[in-house]
Amino acid sequence: MSKLKFGARIGILGGGQLGRMLAGAAAKLGFDVSIYCPEADAPASRVAGESVRAGYNQLDRVLAWAQTCDAITYEFENVPVSTVGHLIRNGQIVRPGLKALEMSQDRIREKTFLRSCAIPTAEFFAIQCGDDIGPALTQLGGAGLLKTCSDGYDGKGQSRIAAGDDDEAIFRALGSRPCVLEGLVPFRCEVSVIAARGLQGDIVCYDIPENIHKDGILKRSTVPAALTHNIMQDAFRAASRLVETLDYVGVLALEFFVLPDGRLIANEFAPRVHNSGHWTVEACLTGQFEQHIRAVAGWSLGSVERTLDVEMENVLGEDLDNLDDNMPATASLTLYGKRDALRGRKIGHWVRLNGSI
Ligand SMILES: Nc1ncnc2c1ncn2[C@@H]1O[C@H](COP(=O)(O)OP(=O)(O)O)[C@@H](O)[C@H]1O
Ligand SMILES: [Mg+2]
Repeated sequence: MSKLKFGARIGILGGGQLGRMLAGAAAKLGFDVSIYCPEADAPASRVAGESVRAGYNQLDRVLAWAQTCDAITYEFENVPVSTVGHLIRNGQIVRPGLKALEMSQDRIREKTFLRSCAIPTAEFFAIQCGDDIGPALTQLGGAGLLKTCSDGYDGKGQSRIAAGDDDEAIFRALGSRPCVLEGLVPFRCEVSVIAARGLQGDIVCYDIPENIHKDGILKRSTVPAALTHNIMQDAFRAASRLVETLDYVGVLALEFFVLPDGRLIANEFAPRVHNSGHWTVEACLTGQFEQHIRAVAGWSLGSVERTLDVEMENVLGEDLDNLDDNMPATASLTLYGKRDALRGRKIGHWVRLNGSI
């Protein structure tokens, strides 16, 4: 019963591009898909057999919807914990469950939890008001990154800050909300582990991409990353401890900074498929979306064997006009079907195939 039958219906909370690609992967495996999200005309709703448009806090609506599905998953980490808790208390199967959401929705809770899993993070201080910033900055050597504890994405909700800045103004510009002040990590590069854990506790990790960000937004992921075998094993072990401790079912991404001496510092994790794993669709036997659906369905995980060296590059709204000129001939293009190609927002990606391995 916890293993879905052929042709069962999977419900996805969230209507963005990740939901759209999950829906496609679910369809590939013969499942029906229903999307639940508040937005009209959402990218995922337009490729699913059914979609319901309602708010995440409308508990009666969301439960009634979930009762028409055989298992529920989510495509973004800000689904209210209270909503998922309500579904679980009412007997619905939600994978990956509640704990990963709780731990990833607040940056301080997230870092504290990562540390409890013996995964190092940057130094950090809780900031409740502008006055908290000065003493924390002093302890961090005079510079740091101030981030809102919740709701940040693509570098939004964060600001560099240094001794002598107007702390109060910067705190206000972030909305005067609870924040975390992090030490600046002098990283050599950024990488991520895309891991999957099945219902039986089996764990697989994809090869590690190196990720380059521009203005806080992922620009490019290159696989394989230039890391030693030992660093890769450290990263895999950390991700495995994380998904085990969370009793996680599905795909999860753990982002790391790599220090010049090879030590790994965790940045954050996402309890979902991840932008830095999009290349797995073209380069691996089982892409991350299909893997997540397999886990949600309680099926055995697929092979993560990689057959190609690849590079994935995001397409932002402003890139659309020059796409033909800038995209390599040996690239596979995915567009998300967003209605507006907004500046600074991801509207698609391409994966350049750099040859078989
Ligand atoms: N403590 C830090 N030190 C140095 N760079 C950082 C730090 N935190 C974040 N960054 C940079 O900003 C990017 C986005 O930050 P992140 O915390 O991952 O926020 P988001 O939730 O927006 O992805 C990171 O990928 C990294 O390039
Ligand atoms: Mg990030």
